[in-house]
Amino acid sequence: MLVLGFESSCDETGVALVRVPAPGSAEAPQLLAQALHSQISMHQAYGGVVPELASRDHIRRVIPLTREVLAGAGIALTDVDLIAYTQGPGLAGALLVGAGVAVSLAAALEKPTLGIHHLEGHLLSPFLSADAPEFPFVALLVSGGHTQLMRVTEVGQYEILGETIDDAAGEAFDKSAKLLGLPYPGGPHLAKLALNGDSTAFELPRPLLHSGKPDFSFAGLKTAVLTQVKRLGEAPTDQQKADLAAATQAAIVEVLVKKSMLALKMTGLKRLVVAGGVGANSVLREQLNAACAKRGVRVHYPELSLCTDNGAMIAMAAAMRLQRGMAILPPTGQGAGGFEIKPRWPLGAIS
Ligand code: KG4
Ligand code: ZN
Repeated sequence: MLVLGFESSCDETGVALVRVPAPGSAEAPQLLAQALHSQISMHQAYGGVVPELASRDHIRRVIPLTREVLAGAGIALTDVDLIAYTQGPGLAGALLVGAGVAVSLAAALEKPTLGIHHLEGHLLSPFLSADAPEFPFVALLVSGGHTQLMRVTEVGQYEILGETIDDAAGEAFDKSAKLLGLPYPGGPHLAKLALNGDSTAFELPRPLLHSGKPDFSFAGLKTAVLTQVKRLGEAPTDQQKADLAAATQAAIVEVLVKKSMLALKMTGLKRLVVAGGVGANSVLREQLNAACAKRGVRVHYPELSLCTDNGAMIAMAAAMRLQRGMAILPPTGQGAGGFEIKPRWPLGAIS
């Protein structure tokens, strides 16, 4: 079976086509083609995502990207068996575009649809890599809007062990980067600046590091970075900025690594899966690799290009649900046309 997937929850329009092996087969679903358009350069002038501009750009991009994917895979639209889309969480207007297109296509083709949770897409994205994980595992989900540790027993079985009580790790990267005068989205820019910095040059807090629970808090770190930026005055040197970037990254990474190790200890599991945009951070990867190697834990990451939002992870999540018989396909044409998006949708509520 063929699954066409759409992602449009924020500032990336993603479309992908995945082939699903027969039910019960041990073979993994296979990515046939994908296309992505990032709106980053469009939002950069505003220092963050402008929701209305995001929705309009999704409208412009989604059909050409779909054509590109189908042509790339050499597949006709009529051969698609299931149309998946990000149902939430995300920006309401942006979600409506992907959902509207998916449901309209499905109605025209008389094919079923499946709404996917965006975070489930991130969580299952490492299954698209050559070194795919096996269930069960601990997942560290670190995106722009979420920071969670989970016990993942199977597709759809997600037990939240701990999460942030305020800002997400990606938000901490982005807000600190903004204070350092870096463009949106700050995470990758801050990481690049940190390459030339000394992380010990500034002392920054590691909130909740010793709480004994796999929970996080990053709001205080941003305030501490603001205090340091003010102290540096009007014209900080490039070295000072690089040092502060390195110190910020070190603080975020230390907390993420320590809490991941705690979650592994709590669950007794020996496998860690990292997902979400911050999972692309190379210092985080280095330190997680070292900490996991010490404890005999296998760690899996998505391909670098699949850490941030994309259509492949949505098509993959739908394919994995389909393969397990979890996606019940309604009879052709029935219920076509109606759909619901869920801008706020806790992951714990999806099983
Ligand atoms: O998962 P994602 O694409 O979007 C959400 O669903 O939120 O994550 C985006 C986040 C942003 O905060 C971005 O700054 C961060 O991931 N990010 C990084 C890196 N690449 C992306 N943060 C630190 N280092 C990176 N290399
Ligand atoms: Zn995301």
